[in-house]
Amino acid sequence: MEITWLGHGTFLFKLASGQTILMDPWTDGNPAYPKGFEVPHVDTICITHGHFDHIHDAVPLAKKFEPEMVAIFETCHWLESKGVRKIKPMNKGGSQKVGDLTFTMTHAVHSCGILDGEKIIYGGEAAGYILRLDGGQIAYFAGDTNVFTDMQLIHELYQPELAFLPIGDLYTMSPHEAAAACRMLKVKKVIPMHFGTFPPLTGRPEELQEKIKGTGTEVWALQPGKTVNW
Ligand code: NI
Ligand code: MN
Repeated sequence: MEITWLGHGTFLFKLASGQTILMDPWTDGNPAYPKGFEVPHVDTICITHGHFDHIHDAVPLAKKFEPEMVAIFETCHWLESKGVRKIKPMNKGGSQKVGDLTFTMTHAVHSCGILDGEKIIYGGEAAGYILRLDGGQIAYFAGDTNVFTDMQLIHELYQPELAFLPIGDLYTMSPHEAAAACRMLKVKKVIPMHFGTFPPLTGRPEELQEKIKGTGTEVWALQPGKTVNW
């Protein structure tokens, strides 16, 4: 599949079948968003949790493209209350196939309040996803999380080859915790995310690379807006 990082925690995936999937849509006002990049038609939007930097453009893009929306039950319910139609609610441990991609929801150690006007609404729990392609490739998209020992179980159950991990620190794990995550996940490659967007998100891919030297996991540092093939 093609992978395009749109800065922070937002990614665009394009499968060989043409299905386009947008992960954690934050385009408008995202300081790391690639200038001039236009979001193409998306078939699927997938949300890890309800923080603004992960759902900011979910409602407008859903209204524009009418994609299927994968998220935890409570966040889907909130999206529906905002006029989003094609919701695909799920919860942890469950799997569903949306187009040609199978989503399995995993745990994440983070919060999930949705800022709605002045109020914070309960959005369910923060989650991650195992993404299974029809061709057999398996990736783990962690969303915002700290490291947790159940990552060993993610390796045991799904054996992902690629992981998307936050490394920025402050709101998620830093390279120190992410290195421990890599050791448990035993992935071939790790794509760092959720760093550098704002000055306090200080973690950097080079730090992670240094900490996992010799473990068999390689850091795959992407540039926002530059598409790579996996
Ligand atoms: Ni968050
Ligand atoms: Mn975040």
